Amino acid sequence: MSASVTVRAAAKVNLHLGVGRPRADGFHPLATVYQTLSLHDDVTATTRDRWSVDLVCEDDIDRDAFPTGEDNIVVRAGRLLAAHHGVSRAAELVVRKSIPIAGGLAGGSADAAATLVALDRLWDLQTSDGDLLAIAAQLGSDVPFALVGGTALGVGRGEVVSPLLDEATRWWVVVPAGTGLSTPAVYRHFDELCPAAELVTVPDELLTALADPDNRVLAAALRNDLEPVAIDLRPELGELIEAGERAGALRGIVSGSGPTCLFLCSDRGSADRVRTTLLDAGHARVLVALGPVSGTHVVEYS
Ligand code: C5P
Repeated sequence: MSASVTVRAAAKVNLHLGVGRPRADGFHPLATVYQTLSLHDDVTATTRDRWSVDLVCEDDIDRDAFPTGEDNIVVRAGRLLAAHHGVSRAAELVVRKSIPIAGGLAGGSADAAATLVALDRLWDLQTSDGDLLAIAAQLGSDVPFALVGGTALGVGRGEVVSPLLDEATRWWVVVPAGTGLSTPAVYRHFDELCPAAELVTVPDELLTALADPDNRVLAAALRNDLEPVAIDLRPELGELIEAGERAGALRGIVSGSGPTCLFLCSDRGSADRVRTTLLDAGHARVLVALGPVSGTHVVEYS
C-alpha cells in the first residue's frame, strides 16, 4: 500500500485590508491583518506516476468552480515543489473542501499551502521554512499566510507575512454566497471606483484591539477597502450586513474580495443567535467559526 499524508489548512478573514493603486506589475500594494478561521480544507497526497486531483465535498460547495485538471492550484503547488528540489515525482491530491470556492476566504490558497506541506512530508524533502514561504508566494499572495496561520500582518502584495499576538478567541458567523466573485474582477472594479486610492496602513487601534479580549474593541477597528467594491457588484451584501448587525452581531464585514460576509460577535452564544436569525431569514448556509487557529499542519499519516 502506498503512503499518504493528510494536511489541514484554514480559511482566512482580513481584519484590516488597506489597498493602494496598482503597482507596475499590476498587483495592488496591501497593508493587511489576516486571521485564520476554524473552517478548513484537508488535502491528502499519495504518490502516483502522474498528477491527478479530486474533490470531496458537500452539495453546498460549487463543484463546477473547482478545476480538476493541471491548472488546479494544488497541482501547480506540487509541480513547483518538485521543480524546486529537481525531482521528477507526481501525486494524487484529494481535496476535502469545506471552504467556499471564490468566496474571499482564501480557500484555494489554503489548498496550495496544504499541498506543499503534504508533499514535503510525503517525499521527505525537508524544505526549509524560508524556501516553503518563497514557493508559496509564487503560487499566490495569500499562500504564505495560509502556511503561517494565527493572526499576522501582511504587506507587499500580501505575501510578506509577520505573526501578530492575538491571544483572545474571536467568534465569527460566516455567511457564504451561492456564487463566488472573481478576485481579479473585484480588484479591477476597485481601480474604477477608487483611481486615486492611497494605501491605508494598519492603524495602532487595530494592534491595540488585538491585545484586548473584548470583541467590541476589535469590531470598531475592522476595515476592508474592497467591501464597498464587492457591495457595488452585489448590493445584496449590504443588506445582509445590516441584517446580521440587527440580529446582534457587533460588526458585519465582507471577507477579502467577497462575497462571503463575516459577523464578529461578542461570544459564542451571541454567534449562535445571529446564525439562527439569518437561517430563519432564508440564508441557506450560515456557520459559526472561531479564530485564530493554527497554520497548515499534518493531521494524518497512513
Ligand atoms: O496573488 P493571487 O494569485 O491570489 O491574486 C489573484 C489576483 O488578484 C491577481 O491576479 C490580481 O488580479 C489580484 N490581486 C491584486 N493585488 C494583490 C493581490 C491580488 O491585484 N495584492
